[in-house]
Amino acid sequence: MDKITFSVNGKKCEVGGDVDSDVSLNDYIRERLNLRGTKYMCKEGGCGACIVAVSTADDTAPRVFSVNSCLVSVTSCHGWQVTTVEGLGDRRRGYHPLQRALAEHNGSQCGYCSPGWVMAMYGLLESSDYNLTQRQIENSFGSNVCRCTGFRPILDAFKTFAKDAPKPNEYVTDIEDLTCRRGGGDCTGDCRDWCIVQKPNDEAKIIKIKLKDNRIWYRVKEVKDIFAILEQEGDDSYMLVNGNTGKGAVPVFDFPRVLIDIQPVEELKGYYVDQNLVVGAGSTLTNFMDIMLTVAHQEEEFGYLLKLHEHLDLVAHIPVRNIGTIAGNLMLKHRQPTFSSDVYLLLESTGAVLTIASKESVTEVLPEQFLHLNMTGKVITHVKLPPLSHNYEFVSFKVMPRSQNAHASVNAAFLYQFDPHRPNEVVSARIVFGGLSAYFTHASHTEQLLIGQNLFTNKVLQEALHTLELELKVENIAGELTPEYRKKCALGLFYKGLLTIIPQQSLKPWYRSGVSDLRKSRPLSKGTEVYDTNPDIWPINEPMPKVDALIQCAGEAKYVNDLPTQQDEVFCAFVTSDIGTGVIEEIDPSPALKLPGVIAFFSAKDIPGINSFVSLKQAGASANEELFADKIVKFYDQPLGIVVADSEKLANRAALLVRVKYRQDKHGPLLTINEIREQDPSRVNLYVAIPARDRGSNVRKVISDCHNLYWQYHYSMETLACVTRPSDDGIDVFPATQFPSWTHLSISDLLNIPQNRINLEVSRCGGAYGNKISRGHQVTVACALTTYLLNRPCRFVSSIQSTLRSTGKRNPSTRDFEVGVNDLGEIQYLEYHYYADNGYVVNEPLIGFAGPAIRSCYDSRRWSIKTFNVTTDTPSNSFCRAPGTFDTIALTEYIMEQISYVLDKDPLEVRLNNLSPNAPEVNEMIQTLVKDAEYEKRKKEVKEFNQLNRWKKRGLRVALMRWPAGVIVDYLVTISIYHGDGSLVVKHGGVDIGQGKNTKVIQVIAYTLNIKTDKVKVKPTDVASNPNTSVTGGSTSTGAVCFGAVKCCQIILDRLAALREELNNPTWEELILNAYLRGINLQASYRVTPNDITIHRSGGAAFAEVELDILTGEHEIRRVDIIEDVGTSLNPEIDIGQIEGGFVMGVGYWTSEHQIVAPSGEVLTDRTWNYHVPLAKDIPIDFRVQLRRNSFNPTGVIGAKAVGEPPTTMAVCVAFALREAIAASREDSGIPQTQWFNVDGPYTLEANVLKANAHLEEFLFN
Ligand SMILES: Cc1cc2nc3c(=O)[nH]c(=O)nc-3n(C[C@H](O)[C@H](O)[C@H](O)COP(=O)(O)OP(=O)(O)OC[C@H]3O[C@@H](n4cnc5c(N)ncnc54)[C@H](O)[C@@H]3O)c2cc1C
Ligand code: FES
Ligand code: FES
Repeated sequence: MDKITFSVNGKKCEVGGDVDSDVSLNDYIRERLNLRGTKYMCKEGGCGACIVAVSTADDTAPRVFSVNSCLVSVTSCHGWQVTTVEGLGDRRRGYHPLQRALAEHNGSQCGYCSPGWVMAMYGLLESSDYNLTQRQIENSFGSNVCRCTGFRPILDAFKTFAKDAPKPNEYVTDIEDLTCRRGGGDCTGDCRDWCIVQKPNDEAKIIKIKLKDNRIWYRVKEVKDIFAILEQEGDDSYMLVNGNTGKGAVPVFDFPRVLIDIQPVEELKGYYVDQNLVVGAGSTLTNFMDIMLTVAHQEEEFGYLLKLHEHLDLVAHIPVRNIGTIAGNLMLKHRQPTFSSDVYLLLESTGAVLTIASKESVTEVLPEQFLHLNMTGKVITHVKLPPLSHNYEFVSFKVMPRSQNAHASVNAAFLYQFDPHRPNEVVSARIVFGGLSAYFTHASHTEQLLIGQNLFTNKVLQEALHTLELELKVENIAGELTPEYRKKCALGLFYKGLLTIIPQQSLKPWYRSGVSDLRKSRPLSKGTEVYDTNPDIWPINEPMPKVDALIQCAGEAKYVNDLPTQQDEVFCAFVTSDIGTGVIEEIDPSPALKLPGVIAFFSAKDIPGINSFVSLKQAGASANEELFADKIVKFYDQPLGIVVADSEKLANRAALLVRVKYRQDKHGPLLTINEIREQDPSRVNLYVAIPARDRGSNVRKVISDCHNLYWQYHYSMETLACVTRPSDDGIDVFPATQFPSWTHLSISDLLNIPQNRINLEVSRCGGAYGNKISRGHQVTVACALTTYLLNRPCRFVSSIQSTLRSTGKRNPSTRDFEVGVNDLGEIQYLEYHYYADNGYVVNEPLIGFAGPAIRSCYDSRRWSIKTFNVTTDTPSNSFCRAPGTFDTIALTEYIMEQISYVLDKDPLEVRLNNLSPNAPEVNEMIQTLVKDAEYEKRKKEVKEFNQLNRWKKRGLRVALMRWPAGVIVDYLVTISIYHGDGSLVVKHGGVDIGQGKNTKVIQVIAYTLNIKTDKVKVKPTDVASNPNTSVTGGSTSTGAVCFGAVKCCQIILDRLAALREELNNPTWEELILNAYLRGINLQASYRVTPNDITIHRSGGAAFAEVELDILTGEHEIRRVDIIEDVGTSLNPEIDIGQIEGGFVMGVGYWTSEHQIVAPSGEVLTDRTWNYHVPLAKDIPIDFRVQLRRNSFNPTGVIGAKAVGEPPTTMAVCVAFALREAIAASREDSGIPQTQWFNVDGPYTLEANVLKANAHLEEFLFN
């Protein structure tokens, strides 16, 4: 039988009938080759964790490029040489400069994303022959998400490899240093030759493979082969496969019977210019862009292709464009006409023609006609782009919720042909929109209206806008922004297009700001990090890289799912409810169980112990949460059971086949706090009331309002994951958890077996941010249950979809208030009612964190506060970075902001007028920042900018905070010293989730014992040596564990003191050896309890300046200045990283992380495709972070304070800056600045445009 052959890191690989059709290159690398350095998260090209580099030979030259290994079928890899992160370097052969650079720049926190970044950068450098500018580098990472670092250090690390880097690259002395360190025995030693790939020498012209799952895989060389195969196999169930990236955009759940790999078909590639530019439709988008550049520079009439190139640069990202093709993109649009395809948009607007071949004929159609064609048995072979004379003007836009890698919310392209003899008179117009509705493409009435008109008069513009407004057909599209926004944005883009092409001298300067496109004009970003460090006390206070950074960047650090595949392993997927609330009448798993490879279905009745994934034996837990709903469905997508199968994909597929009958509740689910307050107030319960201690009488203004905030998904790059296996004494469990003890208890309760039969160990988490405190248990206990019931190893890694749908998130909250203030904005009284949405059950004490944070840094004597717990028909919400404090601090800042608007006062002044006398450090920090950030000067500049510009507005706003650190601590720390060499291991009850805990522990131990840091290693936490521990969370566990470590060191030092004196200045090794010989105990433990820790507050301040496009709602963050009080930093580099990362996570919350929920409660934004966290080009262009100088926390470990959560809360200043920009636009529209308007949740494209609400009548030229 035919085979597919390729190599991975130089090792030859072969696949054929032994693989299923859905085995990706990622599956193969990780599972077959056991190379677990390459990670995965989304499996849809949206996160970059899986990127590898590929080299192929084509007719001209070897080509190196990066790909998302999750999207590539392993059977598509014929002739490829694949390099994974292991191929670049490792501890044995030495690390690659990219791995070192990323690690040493602190570009890795949890490290889960790091191999993907290294490989994306490697592919980029190889494909560009190491000839890139900083700008090009910064522009190239739409492919990669990092949820931890805030991107700044990653960009800094990679920009050192730019040819225009300010300093010579310290990592590379020779280009050879940058090539791979390929292993596996095939390496010739000359690594530059790895990419000299031989073209596969196939005997058979067509490769045919009967795959394990009975699909047939063909690999063809000519178009006629496709038709011959279809003739033979029938066209009832087939798919052409080119880049296979389409499934990242429009998921494919089950591949058809016949798969035809058309990658090698040369007829579908390349280009020529006759009268038109004719491009093979099988060209990749990268090739297409290269062709555009070449032809545009050669032929004047194709100069417009430069604009198409600019637009395509915003499509997907480099690894997808490297293999995704023109035809593949068009066919996605054909299959799902609501898809806002940019390729379709550009071709349709420029009057391109598609050539479509069938067995019988070859036809040419316009892209719009193609959408209505039956494409069965047909192949798109070419696209023809026409030459356009200088009488044409082309302009296009792509409006996205973030800077890169997001499909267009709305896109538009305009082509106007002008009469050469009559200036500005339109001969023809093509006005094309995407993202509005399935088939509405052309604004044909408007096109007609413009013919013969002078396009650049206010009158024609207004007529056109009104015609366009009437003819735009905008439908509701699930998971997309509202029709109201998309219509308004489309009108804005039409106007923006004209502003772009109008002779600029005819345009009133006030309107010129409408021209620039923020997605294309962003300058190179930069950052500064300012902190003090005292070398006298190093290694504490030393800015050293994380101890695990190198192994993380090299893919050597192991996460749960990197444990090797075990024999007989099974996999799970949840079966979930597809109603909001109701009663389960019957569950019938038989259709799923019929599938070969499906092993079992388990539901509530199979649980031997308590049907809850959260044990109530853990302090703080207050209610059981069913692992599987037994009778009553509480929320949409609630797990009802699990399907167990012999592969993860099969389990996921089979789970969808389980049939469930329900009796649905007559009333729909109640999803928000306000719905509950109106319709079922019994579910609102007072938690705490804190009466005011004073009341002022100088009330000049009373303001009352209600603010609503919504969910945030944690988006840890390692999703919820667990591996379990039977052991001789019970069960071994390897979960991704922040709370090993609670996980342990929960398994014991659910399985009804003693805790001492459950062996649980955790090394690290690939990001957590709170979702692995208790939400992770859901996956872990289900995994343990499976092992327990089947006596087989089990692996359960929840998909992003499953996590987003079934798992709780940052809790929404609502806050009513009434405040009376004097003329200075000083609060005379405040009635403050805070409501926390717990989801369907009140379990975690989220609201407990909220209360102390409400006052933040302000004088709260006159504040009367009530907090309420609310339940809604949604998943149980959970801890998320700064739980309870993120929203309450923001909501307090909202009050200050609202006072400042209504009184028309400076927002900082209002805050300072209300500042608590107990927060002098905040006052000090804000004074520093006012100076360093040049607040007064920039405030004036912003005002001037807003006065001069109609369509771009700026805002400069502040946020203060004083964040209360909790004292929920209980950790056992043990250090053990080996007598042979004096090296030392630590075990502590915390978990390194990226916050750098292990590094700091090592620093304090090395400092206290006066030894080198490399003498100390931290070992994974396990429940045998670290029982009954507290959670890793709340930014306090690092300090606590460090405290425990210092105590252990002191115990050891006390034991060694006499001997040390006796030996008269021995070396550490001598001391330890002699201590051993004298029988001195070299192991010490200390249990850190709340008695050891005193409550403290971490303060800070931040300014953000933004620029907002009033026509589209897009923004950019021009500059952010942050100062935070971290006490005496144990490690300033790590702390700055926490601040940058935390702040950017907060920026995501306030801007792009918008969750759309259907009335049924179904989460519609459940993929990387539609849930958008910030990417590298969304961070502040100028990002300045400083640590408060000379700060010491008398109650902290060696003077340190909590770091990781507080900065997240300050990101609300970005929201306020956007608000100011919106308010400035409203003022131009006649609405006074002092008139407050509410924005509930994030400042999305939609919120920005609809709140600004510029009138169509204002769309003018002069
Ligand atoms: C993360 C991500 C982000 C994206 N962002 C954008 C975006 O911003 N804008 C945008 O426009 N697109 C975007 N896309 C879509 C992307 O452009 C397409 O996935 C890609 O172009 C598809 O090409 P392919 O070769 O991989 O197609 P494949 O996945 O191989 O095929 C897709 C479909 O096309 C059919 N097909 C392929 N070639 C032919 C042919 N020659 N004739 C007939 N049928 C054919 C196949 O049978 C299949 O049904 C994104 C995709 C991903 C994964
Ligand atoms: S796993 Fe491949 S891009 Fe996310
Ligand atoms: S370090 Fe990037 S996701 Fe954690």
